[in-house]
Amino acid sequence: METRENDALIILEDLRAQALQGGGADRIADQHGKGKLTARERIDLLLDKGTFEEFDVIKTGRGSVTDVKEGIPGDGVITGYGEISGREVMVFSQDFTVMGGSLGEGHSQKICKVMDMAAKVGCPIIGMNDSGGARIQDGVDSLAAYGEIFVRNVKASGVVPQISCIMGPCAGGAVYSPSLTDFVFMVESTSYMFVTGPNVVKTVIHKDISSEELGGAWIHAERSGVAHFVASNDILCLRDVRKLINYLPSNNAQRAPLLDLSDPSDRTDPALDYLVPVDPGKAYDMSVLIYSILDGAEFLEVQSHFARNIICGFGRLGGQTIGLVANQPAVLAGVLDNDASVKAARFVRFCDAFNIPLIVLVDVPGFMPGPEQESGGIIRHGAKLLYAFIEATVPRITVIVRKAYGGAYLVMNSKHILGDINYAWPSAEIAVMGPRGAAEILYRKEIGTSPDHEKALADREAQYRATFENPLVAAQRGYIDDVIFPHQTRHRLIRALQLLEGKKGEEPRRKHGNIPL
Ligand code: HXC
Repeated sequence: METRENDALIILEDLRAQALQGGGADRIADQHGKGKLTARERIDLLLDKGTFEEFDVIKTGRGSVTDVKEGIPGDGVITGYGEISGREVMVFSQDFTVMGGSLGEGHSQKICKVMDMAAKVGCPIIGMNDSGGARIQDGVDSLAAYGEIFVRNVKASGVVPQISCIMGPCAGGAVYSPSLTDFVFMVESTSYMFVTGPNVVKTVIHKDISSEELGGAWIHAERSGVAHFVASNDILCLRDVRKLINYLPSNNAQRAPLLDLSDPSDRTDPALDYLVPVDPGKAYDMSVLIYSILDGAEFLEVQSHFARNIICGFGRLGGQTIGLVANQPAVLAGVLDNDASVKAARFVRFCDAFNIPLIVLVDVPGFMPGPEQESGGIIRHGAKLLYAFIEATVPRITVIVRKAYGGAYLVMNSKHILGDINYAWPSAEIAVMGPRGAAEILYRKEIGTSPDHEKALADREAQYRATFENPLVAAQRGYIDDVIFPHQTRHRLIRALQLLEGKKGEEPRRKHGNIPL
């Protein structure tokens, strides 16, 4: 009896030692040679020192049942849990040194176990992806295994934060798990994501293209919008994940942790009184306002390279995490276009799902005109943002900084779509459309018959500006709760958040709404 137990222990230790070596020294050297860390090194960097607890270290795939020694201990993925800034997170990290990190049945079962645990205990799940995709030898079992993960991604959506780091290949149907999660991080030069790789592209459309050009980090950060964050290497990527986690609650029943950055709530910034240029046609940088009002001037921008005409990200006010959405007049004059609408809508929905109050800073001349936008679906995409705001029951506070025209005024969390507290700066211009367009429509005949067209138009424009280009009418109607001094913005926002602390959202009884996807 004693001998048998000892045998089991010896085998166990053997398997454990084997698992800890991953694919062995040569493959680890290859991994490092590509500028990538190993799966275990990544976990160590992500988590607080010494907090990692591993699950299923010797688990193998089903193919190895007959002789456990023949299996692949760990099955190409490392899973478990640990802490980030003292809070628990579940993790999995695919090990490219073991069969290219390919996903077979056992590998998937390990991932599913930590996903299930995340949902059960209510903590974020962070996946580090570095995989050749479905394990070819496992055939349809590996496809079924992906299905198991997709199902869990969807069921956990809006319940616990889900974060994906793409740190190597991610191809074929495998891309759909990360894209179902809340935030995707990619690493420059070493990661790529595509549904069909360069070889298929060559065969089907006879085009030569590299993996980097097809689905590298910058393609997804700037063009497709799939990547929310890009880092230049694994170390910086994992540091950014830690930063993000610190802004988030562990689950949808909790509030994000308070963090006191010792920044007085009544701090004023006189420079803000001069932020908006006197000439309404001039641009300025909205990020000046953002960094000025937030605690400790700390802001984590999401999708900072995509649809830069709108800014989304996390900061803190009075220690509390807020989600910030702001038009950026320095890029495309801050218009709402297809990409900006979709980017902001998804961000608003994330914040609403996880009890993060929304602060909206408005300077929007309208929706982007033109056939490209219309045929590209601006009606559908703009509706997403409208839907997302209206549906959001978290505290919603708006500051109209300058332009707020037409439908875009309404969409940007106006009072009319249930904004809770809506302020305007004295520089706010709230109207159905800009002065030139309005004058041209209202006084077309008069301007047309005038001997001096330009002067007639300019006069009518000036008249329109005097009547509509200010926040007074909106304030008189009660659509704006107060016109505030720019330098007081931080204090007014923090007070408004305090008031809305106990806001109760209405939940209509239905299976789910039908957001115009
Ligand atoms: C089994 C795999 C594998 C896979 C890689 N390996 N991908 N084993 N199944 N899918 C193994 C290789 O055989 C090799 O083993 C080791 O991993 C390292 O791979 P290399 O090719 O040497 O590495 P590298 O040159 O860096 O190339 C990486 C790669 C390439 C580009 C990912 O391996 C590759 O193209 N793999 C196949 C990718 C693929 O088509 N996957 C299926 C996608 S479709 P040895 O023992 O030689 O070191 C998919 C569907 C998902 O995933 C569906 C979800 C619904």
